Amino acid sequence: MKSILITGGAGFIGSHVVRLFVTKYPEYKIVNLDALTYAGNLENLKDIDHSPNYYFEKVNILDAEAITEVFIKHAITDVIHLAAESHVDRSIISPLDFVYTNIIGTVNLLNTARHQWKADYSSHLFYHISTDEVYGALGDTGLFTETTPYHPNSPYSASKASSDHFVRAYAETYHMKTVVSNCSNNYGPFHFPEKLIPLFINNIITKKPLPVYGDGLYTRDWLFVKDHALAIDLIFHQGKADETYNIGGFNEWRNIDLVKLLCTLMDEKLGRVKGESEALITYVKDRPGHDRRYAIDASKINKELGWKPTVTFEEGLSQTIDWYLENTEWLNNITSGAYAKYYESMYTNR
Ligand code: NAD
Ligand code: DAU
Repeated sequence: MKSILITGGAGFIGSHVVRLFVTKYPEYKIVNLDALTYAGNLENLKDIDHSPNYYFEKVNILDAEAITEVFIKHAITDVIHLAAESHVDRSIISPLDFVYTNIIGTVNLLNTARHQWKADYSSHLFYHISTDEVYGALGDTGLFTETTPYHPNSPYSASKASSDHFVRAYAETYHMKTVVSNCSNNYGPFHFPEKLIPLFINNIITKKPLPVYGDGLYTRDWLFVKDHALAIDLIFHQGKADETYNIGGFNEWRNIDLVKLLCTLMDEKLGRVKGESEALITYVKDRPGHDRRYAIDASKINKELGWKPTVTFEEGLSQTIDWYLENTEWLNNITSGAYAKYYESMYTNR
């Protein structure tokens, strides 16, 4: 029987992965390990938290002893590692937090797996979830492939790149079975409102300025979070050991075009006059080291595993807006308290 440790399961993507695995594989034991930082929220999982195959452990991945206890207690057979500090802007303010969690935390998990699974590495998988940001920035053309050289530009992407290298090093050195996937920008329900799409949805609802960084011509490749979870399921079960898979939406948008689309959709849904939300757009000081363009070539996972996005951007964005409009309590709980202080320090006088 599989007993899968999913780290960061109370976060945005992790909660979708936990939900998918708990409901699709009742025969697996799913252990969600999460420190519940500002980004972790057990509310994200309240629909499945009574499932008999679901377990939660509040543990920080900096605590090597506690990780070992969880491995032993639940006889962990496999790891899907999502826990991370994930926000680029926060990494510019506090790089060390990213070094600790993303690098040292990952090495702590690898070490525990290395010791606990040493009798037979071939029957255990360490699956590391990473980002396209490790490849750096693209110009106007081209796509990131699995062989694009790493060129991280932010403390966040440098810490994720480092963690990817450690995973590969453990595969080479100790012959552990690993896999890494590097995904583009996700969006969807439960996305923490410090990231572009949920932040702007919240600001449109509350009629606050929409702070577009720099000239707004930065480009991202957006993927609906449930399609990322489906890709993770496929790679976990059918991916080749020690390989990398790029995951992307084949869906590039310049920030300003995306923001205008969001404004139009929200004016319609909120019954506002067309153009009312666009008037909230405010150009602000750019993010330091801002990567101009990301775009993923996801042809390997498509050809080898048959994965492709199932949700169009128009459907996904519409579903996402509806979710935020229906879940104002979730949003209000987050946007009060510590978040309010973060928002003020990040955007006042920018
Ligand atoms: P998130 O910030 O929403 O969630 C991170 C989770 O990790 C939270 O539940 C938090 O409590 C937990 N966590 C943080 N530090 C921890 C620690 N020291 N110990 C234990 N738990 C800790 O992040 P997300 O957007 O869901 O991203 C999940 C993973 O996917 C990350 O590894 C990220 O790098 C990667 N990723 C994200 C995106 C994206 O667009 N969001 C795209 C590609 C890859
Ligand atoms: O590419 C994958 C990455 O996508 C993940 O690895 C990260 O965890 C995730 O946070 C995301 O990083 P980005 O920096 O691309 O996402 P963010 O939502 O912060 O910003 C998206 C774009 O919007 C980026 O060009 C910066 C811009 N932006 C963002 C914010 C928060 C603004 O113009 N204004 C804002 O207020």
